[in-house]
Amino acid sequence: MSDMIRIDDTNCRGFLADDALSAARNRVAEALATLQSRSGPGSDFLGWVDLPVQAREALPPLLETAEEIRAQSDVLVVVGIGGSYLGARAVIEALRPPFGGDDLSILYAGHHIDGGYLSAMLDHLEGRRVSINVISKSGTTTEPAIAFRILRRWMEDRYGKAEAARRIFATTDARKGALRTLADEEGYRSFVIPDDVGGRFSVFTPVGLLPIAAAGVNAAALLDGAIAMRGKCGFRDPHANPAFAYAVLRDALYHSGQSVEVLASFHPQLQYITEWWKQLFGESEGKDGRGLFPAAVTNTTDLHSMGQYIQDGQRMLFETFLFSDIAEVDIALPVSDDDTDGLRYLAGRTLADVNRQAMRGTALAHLSGGVPNALITLSSISPASIGALLYFFETAVALSGYALGVNPFDQPGVEEYKRNMFALLRKPGFEQLHDELTARLGGLS
Ligand code: PA5
Repeated sequence: MSDMIRIDDTNCRGFLADDALSAARNRVAEALATLQSRSGPGSDFLGWVDLPVQAREALPPLLETAEEIRAQSDVLVVVGIGGSYLGARAVIEALRPPFGGDDLSILYAGHHIDGGYLSAMLDHLEGRRVSINVISKSGTTTEPAIAFRILRRWMEDRYGKAEAARRIFATTDARKGALRTLADEEGYRSFVIPDDVGGRFSVFTPVGLLPIAAAGVNAAALLDGAIAMRGKCGFRDPHANPAFAYAVLRDALYHSGQSVEVLASFHPQLQYITEWWKQLFGESEGKDGRGLFPAAVTNTTDLHSMGQYIQDGQRMLFETFLFSDIAEVDIALPVSDDDTDGLRYLAGRTLADVNRQAMRGTALAHLSGGVPNALITLSSISPASIGALLYFFETAVALSGYALGVNPFDQPGVEEYKRNMFALLRKPGFEQLHDELTARLGGLS
């Protein structure tokens, strides 16, 4: 498990004065002390720190349920949004073969409000054996609640109430919320999200682990990777603690005028890892008028679109490259007698090798264009390294948030759209806001 994650900051150094770096180091060291003493804002949401160890011990019954889901289903529909959706999808898409095969297929619902999508899903479910894992910490979030009402009706019509209840698994609060009430009344088997773990930090609770295990991903190895990373995350030394090193770099670049961080992966299977990262960093840091804007690209695909801006647009960004050292499965370019396609010079070379040269070439090109770039190297894309990566990012964002002077564990800014949506939908209790908003709709009416 040694060095599942390495950080190289060579291509940032020219952009950072020594005093900027040492000021950042001091801020992050203070942030680490705050985190360790549990004395900072939001410290009642630090359950994530010890989760991998606790989850490892509590894993056997969850694995049994996952096996049951696998045995009784062709499809598992995972219903949830935000922190109750992205972690599971990130891990599953990173670690399952991209084209599925005969294994249980995992579909996602409740992460947006589009009737065409859900209607097509219901058509697709016909004739297949279906289970549902509905996930909501609050138990009241509108998007998953809408999707679940529709899917529950479909399950009950299809299977009858009793069999539908055997095929529905709820992950929610231990005591409160509409989903808890529903699960208790209907007799759904349920898993609990601890009170002291926020949504975006919940991937190592049943929120992430049940769908991950049901998808056939090795959840024990995932947690072992997170546990190994946790062993490093207490050190105050950037050489011993990659989360500390990353937080220092981000903080120094932010205070040197870079306001956007682009996480640039070179592996399409990591696309949802970057989506999960965007939520983790955006919701944790973006408040009180502060915070790096987290953006993401998948290369080399996006070098043919966003690459232009990164190379040559407004200079306010830095990149963090995410690259896997070893390809578990690879393919080499065939040798050919003719050279009509002009690729003879690559014959026999692997795509991992070509990808590495693309990453290196991009780093140097963007550096010449005035974009600092850091490199996070994963030893491989495996359950253990992905577990380590997720825990690394969780620690880094906690340190970054405290260094920035914000509470990294709340999300007050996600409420306003919800209030407006309720008012426009005429939810009881929002009548006055409905009238105010309707008067302001203008071109949207
Ligand atoms: O990070 C968060 O807290 C949010 O993204 C939530 O996870 C998201 O809003 C879903 O909330 P809930 O699990 O209560 O349905």
